[in-house]
Amino acid sequence: MHSFKELAAAFENRFTASLPFSQSPATLYEPCRYLLGLGGKRIRPILCLMGNELFNEISEDAWHAAFGIELFHNFTLIHDDIMDNAPIRRGNPAIHAKYGLTAGILCGDVMSIYAYDQLGKIKTALPQALQLFNKTAIEVCEGQQLDMDFESRNDVTIDEYLHMITLKTSVLLACALKMGALVGGAMGDNANKLYAFGRNMGIAFQLQDDYLDAFGDTNKLGKQNGGDIKANKKTYLLLKAMENADAETRQEIDRLLHSDTDSKVEAMRSIYSATGADTACREAAASYSKMAFECLEDVAVPSKRKQPLYDLAEYLLEREK
Ligand code: IPE
Ligand code: IPE
Ligand code: MG
Ligand code: MG
Ligand code: MG
Repeated sequence: MHSFKELAAAFENRFTASLPFSQSPATLYEPCRYLLGLGGKRIRPILCLMGNELFNEISEDAWHAAFGIELFHNFTLIHDDIMDNAPIRRGNPAIHAKYGLTAGILCGDVMSIYAYDQLGKIKTALPQALQLFNKTAIEVCEGQQLDMDFESRNDVTIDEYLHMITLKTSVLLACALKMGALVGGAMGDNANKLYAFGRNMGIAFQLQDDYLDAFGDTNKLGKQNGGDIKANKKTYLLLKAMENADAETRQEIDRLLHSDTDSKVEAMRSIYSATGADTACREAAASYSKMAFECLEDVAVPSKRKQPLYDLAEYLLEREK
């Protein structure tokens, strides 16, 4: 079995050595190389490789799936930064901020096609893998639309929020694991159990992402913090703060939601702390992580083989970026 660190290094070597883009037009492909060259945690491809290695030695098919999934993820980030009006990604200007909107739109488009090109190379269980991937990609679009729709609604429930983050974020982590398992010849119900693990872990992951957006350090995060607050994103933090607030604080939240001042982020952050929304968010993440671990226990392989997945899930909850 390989650790997260070992797989991350192996992925980085292979991925950067075999980036599939053409040279021309450079205006299309240079921004693609730029973003992929900025790294990232590579969680999804590593989950795919780990899902594969649970059942077998890592296969060529798992690498194709891992490449495809990371390309798809990066495509979603490019368009997400346009939609979220986010200037910084991975500690550097986002593609649309550096190269313009057209580059952002088209680089995202072409990267998603290259993702499919990688997936098309899979030899084992290709129809199942593609079906899973297509379902997931559609769900990500649905989740992203809901995320945007929620910006202008003030009656979003926590259940609606959880549904939205399941779609926009967690299903891709679950898909990565299951795809690794499928192309690795997982037997019986194991691939589905792994999917359930990923789905819960993905919810914890997005809860932590929301927490870091408000309370993380921009330099460590590589993203501008406070972006969710500025955009009136209906995060767990905001929904819990609304739920816990007394009448006066609730009024202040409503006022902030209609304001666009420099002090908005700091003021909202203080409310998150005063209402205990910050702690509630961390606790919710820990509770989904716990559920994830319970699902992982059900996967019928020796527990020693699952250790890298446990380690990765724990790291995700403690991360600062
Ligand atoms: C960011 O994903 C988008 C979310 C779903 C929260 P990551 O935090 O995995 O981004 P990178 O790839 O490590 O930069
Ligand atoms: C992004 O969620 C989810 C997808 C990219 C599909 P966020 O908007 O919270 O991601 P960050 O914080 O910009 O990375
Ligand atoms: Mg965003
Ligand atoms: Mg977003
Ligand atoms: Mg975020």
